Amino acid sequence: MCGIMGYVGRGSARDVILNGLARQEYRGYDSAGAALRVGGEIKNIKIVGRVSELHRLVYADEGTAEAVSGIGHTRWATHGGVTVTNAHPHESADGSVVLVHNGIIENAREIRSRLEADGIKFRTETDTESPCQLLARIYAGNGGDARAAMSELCGSLSGIFSLVILFRDRPDEIWCARRGAPLVAAHTDEGGYCASDPTALLEYTHDMFFLEDGEFAEITPDGIKFFGFDGEERVKKSIFLHWDSAMAEKGHYEHFMRKEIDEQPNIVRLTIDAHTVLTSVDIEGDLNMPDGKPLASWIREIRRVQFVACGTSHYATLVARGLMESLDNALDVTADVASEYRYRSVPGGPDTLAVFVSQSGETADTLAAARGARGRGTRCIAVTNVRGSTLDREAGCALLTTAGPEVGVAATKTFTSQICLLNLLALQLLKSRGTLSVGDEARLIGGMRALPTKQQALLEREGEIRALAEKYSGSKGFFFIGRRESVPLTMEGALKLKEIAYLPSEAYAAGEMKHGPIAMLDEHLTVVALVPNDDLREKMLSSVAESRARGARIVIMATEGDAEVAAMCDDVLFVPETERELFALCGVIPLQLFAYHTARTLGRPIDMPRNLAKSVTVE
Ligand code: AGP
Repeated sequence: MCGIMGYVGRGSARDVILNGLARQEYRGYDSAGAALRVGGEIKNIKIVGRVSELHRLVYADEGTAEAVSGIGHTRWATHGGVTVTNAHPHESADGSVVLVHNGIIENAREIRSRLEADGIKFRTETDTESPCQLLARIYAGNGGDARAAMSELCGSLSGIFSLVILFRDRPDEIWCARRGAPLVAAHTDEGGYCASDPTALLEYTHDMFFLEDGEFAEITPDGIKFFGFDGEERVKKSIFLHWDSAMAEKGHYEHFMRKEIDEQPNIVRLTIDAHTVLTSVDIEGDLNMPDGKPLASWIREIRRVQFVACGTSHYATLVARGLMESLDNALDVTADVASEYRYRSVPGGPDTLAVFVSQSGETADTLAAARGARGRGTRCIAVTNVRGSTLDREAGCALLTTAGPEVGVAATKTFTSQICLLNLLALQLLKSRGTLSVGDEARLIGGMRALPTKQQALLEREGEIRALAEKYSGSKGFFFIGRRESVPLTMEGALKLKEIAYLPSEAYAAGEMKHGPIAMLDEHLTVVALVPNDDLREKMLSSVAESRARGARIVIMATEGDAEVAAMCDDVLFVPETERELFALCGVIPLQLFAYHTARTLGRPIDMPRNLAKSVTVE
């Protein structure tokens, strides 16, 4: 969490830092700050609130136009309340060091006690002030050797950090370091940059240097030098990012989330095109494994598949798990949340394939879970949306979703792209095991190819969904119920409503309602029942009837043509017929729009909901 930014060069440091913070605001947005070097002075401007307010204050100070270097931060508070004093950048008591930090310094209290005992006055409640004061102490003590001071500082810290630093007496340099939290650096003729997220740098370059854990860097207008924490210089290769900066713009949309919902049909198309081989008559569905090794060479040894992820990415894995189970129930397939998987005694080894899924590729629990699995000798595949992310770089084998940058905190397009890619991966795995029939393969690949048109048709019914959202936005709470393939979708529908509309919303397998939750139902609650026209339709309709009998308001999502359901509910939302296993890829669109319009009706800050951050880089 938190977005950090640094720049030194020939351009406007003020513009670079403030633009970079605006692009990374989704990472944290309770306070923000920028320290800009203007002549011999470092102007440190901090606010509680949004980057737009920081922007106003910084630009009101005309002197900042001359800034040649700077660092900036947008905060998601962990240690210390949301106050201007606790906002970054932090300055050492002697003023020699100014620093921003993303992560958690676990030995901050110990460092602080030691330095306070030596008479150094701390001003904030944050864990970040400790590395700041400590660096100043080391730097003063070693005769101003910045490289040695950085090496000693990094070696003295425990916990997770990415840091960007200005030394007051080094006007042409910024320094940065990484252990556990993302950090990317880049260089152009205009100068040197660093940021938490590569999208903050895309308008300057596509060539990025991703720092590894245990590395720090010296950035000057003329180049970047990388070092290990031992102080030894390292040679690093850049990675070219194909994303274009316009992909991370809102365009004519009011919110990123709304734009990202609209992008889904195209993303489904791209995902399938990127990962399948098409012939004029049929679709082979062969997945190109990025490590070039044919899956067939080892897949027959696999006895179990473990999907591991958090939040919406976890729900995407539940869909893929369902697909695999329905086609090959001899294979043991599980889907766990990473925060549990990493601490449980899960089976592993070369007969296990673990698939780690993370949009950002930086989620702390997912990274830790993947490291644990690799340690057990489990065969691992990563699925991520961010090339160069930690998950991508650490995984021996990574598949990239082709969703482009997702800025809205609520995941939308990455959910559908993950499901498509995981489905293709699942089909390829089963094909290599010899358990996928030609008929099922053609049916499912064909079904996926047909999805974009169906999704587009749903997007065109936005007015209808908006009207429903307005009608139900006064509900005290929501239950999303479904069975089998619909269950992951109930979870995603409920999560979207919780995170952007802040409304209590629960997801339940419909059969579980009678085991407790039904006690809550009354006329103030709304039940959203997912009732595709499949073999479980009648059972779903019984659950609907039971909820209705308790006075709850009922919205049914049904398959187009199922006119009968209208009489059993207050409102009905039709979705086009799909293959049973692909229901989530259509059904999610109305649920996303429903959450979006409910949040909009309630006046919520849709792209940056309270208390959340897009990328959860701390445990
Ligand atoms: C989704 O809307 C959420 N913001 C959140 O649950 C997210 O999916 C989760 O934090 C996992 O993130 P990742 O995919 O980047 O690992």
